[in-house]
Amino acid sequence: MAEQPRTIERFCKGDHVVYWGDAIRVLDDHIADSTVQLIFADPPYNIGKRFAGFVDKWPTDADYAKWCYRWLDLCVKKLTPNGSMYVMASTQCMPYLDLYLRERMCVLSRIVWHYDSSGVQARGYFGSAYEPILFCVKDSENYTFNAHDVLIRAKTGAERRLIDYRKSVPAMYSTDKVPGNAWYFPRVRYRMPEYENHPSQKPEALLERMVRASSNPGDTILDPFAGTFTASAVARRLGRATIGIELQEEFVKVGLRRLQIQDRLNGELLRPLDKKYIRRNANGRKRVSTKERTLFED
Ligand SMILES: C[S@@+](CC[C@H](N)C(=O)[O-])C[C@H]1O[C@@H](n2cnc3c(N)ncnc32)[C@H](O)[C@@H]1O
Repeated sequence: MAEQPRTIERFCKGDHVVYWGDAIRVLDDHIADSTVQLIFADPPYNIGKRFAGFVDKWPTDADYAKWCYRWLDLCVKKLTPNGSMYVMASTQCMPYLDLYLRERMCVLSRIVWHYDSSGVQARGYFGSAYEPILFCVKDSENYTFNAHDVLIRAKTGAERRLIDYRKSVPAMYSTDKVPGNAWYFPRVRYRMPEYENHPSQKPEALLERMVRASSNPGDTILDPFAGTFTASAVARRLGRATIGIELQEEFVKVGLRRLQIQDRLNGELLRPLDKKYIRRNANGRKRVSTKERTLFED
C-alpha cells in the first residue's frame, strides 16, 4: 500500500480531467453522483507488482477486498442510471469482486482477455495467460451497447462465402459478429508506439472495444486507476469526455502528456519516452538507434 499524498491536484483542458491523488478521496469529494456513463477500473492487483513508489500488496486478501469494496461502492454511485462498468483484477482476487458486484449491479459478461506469452513461462504449473474482466451495468433494461461499433469478422472455416438459402431471396451469410467473451489482443510491447514505462499498461485496442460498445460520443468515461491513462487516451480519440485519477506522479506526468493537457509539471518538460531500438547491421552486429518523437505525438 502507498503513502497518500496530502493534497489532490486537478488538471483540466477542454473535456479532459486528470486528478493526482487517491482514487477513494477523489471519487468521494470531487466527482458528483450519477454523472458518469462508463467506468473502467483496473486497480492494483495485490500481487506485489511495483508501480513507481508503490508496492501492490495488502497484508491479507480480506484487507484488499475491503479496500476494493470502498471504491466499488463509490463507482456505482457515480454512474448514471444507464451506466456501465468494466472491472479488471488479478485472477486470484476477481472472485471477491465478482461476488460483491453481482449484488449491486447486473454482471452481463465475464470476459477473458488472453494474450501472447513471450516471457518466461511457468514450468511447475499452468502459467497465467489471461486476465479477467467483469462487464456490469446498473440497469439491464436500460444501458448502452453499440453492437454495430464492435463487430468482428467471424471465422466460418469455409473457403468461400456461404449463402443462406433460408431467406426468400438467398443472400450471403453475414460473417460480422459481436465478439464473444474471450478477447485476444497482444500485450503492449516496447516497440509499439503506445508503449509507456508502466508494469501493467493495457493495450489501446482492448479499451477501444469497451469504449465503443458502452458509450457514445460526448459521454463521460472515468478511470479511477489510470496508470498510463490508456482509457482516457482512447476515449479522447473517440470523442468522449474523460476523468482519470492516478496516485503516482510519474504516471500523472504520462497522463498530462498523453492527453495533451499540459507539457510541463513543476517546470519539468514532459517528454515522450526516448526509445532505444536494437537493430542489426549487415554484419549482424548490434546497432542502437533512438527514435525521436515529437512532444504530443499521437
Ligand atoms: C493496474 S494499473 C492501471 C494500468 C492502466 N489501466 C494502464 O493502462 O496503464 C493500477 C494503477 O493504479 C495506481 N494506484 C494505486 N493505488 C491508487 C490509489 N489509491 N488511487 C489512485 N491510483 C492508484 C497505480 O499507481 C497504478 O498506476
